[in-house]
Amino acid sequence: MTATKTSIADLFKPAKLGPFTLSNRIIMAPLTRSRAGKGDAQGKMNADYYSQRASAGLIISEATQISQQGKGYAFTPGIYTDEQVNGWTLSTDAVHAKSGLMFAQLWHVGRISHPDLQADNQLPVAPSAIRPEGKAFTETGFKDFVTPRALETSEIPGIIQQYVHAAECAKKAKFDGIEIHAANGYLLDQFLRDKTNRRTDNYGGSIENRARLLLEVVAALTTVWSPDCIGIRLSPVSHANDIADSHPMETFSYVVNQLNQFNIAYIHCIEGETMGPRTIPADFSFAKLRNLFNGRYIANNGYDLKLALQARDNNLADFICFGRLFIANPDLVARLMTGKKLTEAPKETWYGNGAHGYTDWPVS
Ligand SMILES: Cc1cc2nc3c(=O)[nH]c(=O)nc-3n(C[C@H](O)[C@H](O)[C@H](O)COP(=O)(O)O)c2cc1C
Repeated sequence: MTATKTSIADLFKPAKLGPFTLSNRIIMAPLTRSRAGKGDAQGKMNADYYSQRASAGLIISEATQISQQGKGYAFTPGIYTDEQVNGWTLSTDAVHAKSGLMFAQLWHVGRISHPDLQADNQLPVAPSAIRPEGKAFTETGFKDFVTPRALETSEIPGIIQQYVHAAECAKKAKFDGIEIHAANGYLLDQFLRDKTNRRTDNYGGSIENRARLLLEVVAALTTVWSPDCIGIRLSPVSHANDIADSHPMETFSYVVNQLNQFNIAYIHCIEGETMGPRTIPADFSFAKLRNLFNGRYIANNGYDLKLALQARDNNLADFICFGRLFIANPDLVARLMTGKKLTEAPKETWYGNGAHGYTDWPVS
């Protein structure tokens, strides 16, 4: 497809999101890069990486754990200690210095963890004691997931408090807003979906109950941040991290309808299998989900320029979020605008390994 002038202009033109005017409609996806330092704090190298990508209309930070309990991979950054706040501030300052905007993605992995990553080698927590298929990435290599411990009902307020504390830390770290990570089979998604939630208390069973924790988290976070600086990430039809739901359209329609009461800025949807096919089950519709929601819609998964232009031309999304393409193309916005060749990042550069494959990708 040849890009029309009108659609190019639109994708690359400023647009409002909450109180912000983004310089374009291209958003950098949260990308875990496993390059945090001591105390799970980031430093100057990470700030350089984000600063190189500040021409995105908005950067969503890599997922950042809200507590030690919320950690599920080696070398990921946290956002709950002063040291971590200071580290993140280097990144937000660097992005702001280039007139960019940056939200923090708040993350609790639930069962997608391992005792090696937990305080005192405790079991990871989850809605129900169901072991996920797959392996955890620990400091000493990949290890089989274990059967997690089901959270007691009395522990739920403590989980919400972890989100509140992390959201306060994100404010101190001068982020412009927060994105609640409710996608990809992590804790909030584990509560939402019936494959992973077999609880018999008020947080399991019916859709209303399964959505309760997520909605309580959103309600609590609106006491810390203005709702229009809050977004949420959802992956309704993805099976990432061994997640599934019998009726995703019903589940997520309920979630989005309920989210409307909070007037948050956006829902950010992974359309299809995370990093995989964009195939959508016949009984699911992202267009319908978007129509139910009273804020903005960010579309992600497998977008290239052609798809992004089509989505804008057909008004299927307000913003387009790119993940993998931002890894090796720090100036992705300029490259897309001018039709320059894009570089593909080899998978071995995705996680760990310091500056190589991280801050050393040239601008075109
Ligand atoms: C290296 C890597 C790390 C990722 N880390 C995160 C993350 O921290 N949080 C998240 O929500 N998604 C994460 N994802 C998923 C991406 O945000 C995005 O949904 C996915 O790559 C599909 O978009 P794309 O086709 O534009 O790459 C990650 C993906 C990759 C490749």
